[in-house]
Amino acid sequence: MSDENKDTAGSTEPGEGGGARGRVIGTPSPARDRTLLAQDDISAPAGVGEELDEASAKRAERVVATFFLVAFAASVAFIAYYIGWSGRNGGMHGVTRARESNFWLGGLMALSFLALAAGVTIWVRRLMTSKPIVQERHSLAADEETRAAFTKDFLEGAGDSGLTKRPLLRRTLLLAAAPLGLAPLVLLRDLGPLPEKKLRSTIWADAVKKAQAQGKKGVRLVVDGTDKPLRVSDFSSPGGMITVLPEGIEEDVPEDQVLTQTAKAVTILINIPEDEFKPAKGRENWHINGIVAYSKVCTHVGCPAALYEQTTHHILCPCHQSTFDATDAAKVVFGPAARPLPQLPLAVEDGYIVATSDYHEPIGPSFWERG
Ligand code: FES
Repeated sequence: MSDENKDTAGSTEPGEGGGARGRVIGTPSPARDRTLLAQDDISAPAGVGEELDEASAKRAERVVATFFLVAFAASVAFIAYYIGWSGRNGGMHGVTRARESNFWLGGLMALSFLALAAGVTIWVRRLMTSKPIVQERHSLAADEETRAAFTKDFLEGAGDSGLTKRPLLRRTLLLAAAPLGLAPLVLLRDLGPLPEKKLRSTIWADAVKKAQAQGKKGVRLVVDGTDKPLRVSDFSSPGGMITVLPEGIEEDVPEDQVLTQTAKAVTILINIPEDEFKPAKGRENWHINGIVAYSKVCTHVGCPAALYEQTTHHILCPCHQSTFDATDAAKVVFGPAARPLPQLPLAVEDGYIVATSDYHEPIGPSFWERG
């Protein structure tokens, strides 16, 4: 190494020629003046074989103890806040209360951890010797002699067991063990029967077929909860949203399947101002003056997409915030859902809103399409 290079590697001071030299990695930071401890404490760290200066150690001890006391006080305040104060006045319910609780609980916990970490750091830096500790690491590989002994033992054992001499036993043993490796595949059956094509249609299909067999245009929509058939005039205010089902679900579906079928068929009816509604190509006559029906089952993982924002005409799923544009074929405008909410074709018959067919694609999570 040249003299010039030696000089650079061994110093952190500015060069004689006025040019600043870079700090060598591993040397102390020049920002010593901003530390919590006195300059003399820092400039004389305990080194190999050095005794700690007692006065300096006492000062550091007091600083560390102060940090630990701060950590203790913050922890106690955290518990007191959680048990006492936040338990009253309605607890943490409501957005404002939750925000306030998060601020105080998070702040106190952060203060406690920070004070603890600062105390421990100063303790280690100032009160422990920096004596290097060396731990011998043994070689992982066994020596020649051990490996030879193992090989000899293994071959002797194999010979004694007859594994090499008796191929019939060896092969039948392998044969016996092979199916055990496949046993976990059998457990897959416990996941239940395959859905086959059952997820491709809903009870709307049967209800429409039954109504059309009676010479009607389609099946009436009834309000979920009251089972009251819905007239166009009952739902004439733009901005409204209501949950509907096909009429007669209780009579036409076996009792043990009512819940399942209802969950699949549940539909939201929305009245969008007609001038804001953009019917999709091929679906121009699926709405009634802006009254449109979409599946309520979110296409992400199937939560009810039950929130409707009147001003933006967005349908929101509260589970993972998927957002669908009700004016534009319920296309996804935000969130993890991969496809629009399926749309139910509507028409008017004797003043009532009717569905003229089932959904044209599977409802619910997209992977069901592959069922
Ligand atoms: S289930 Fe609707 S966003 Fe996840």
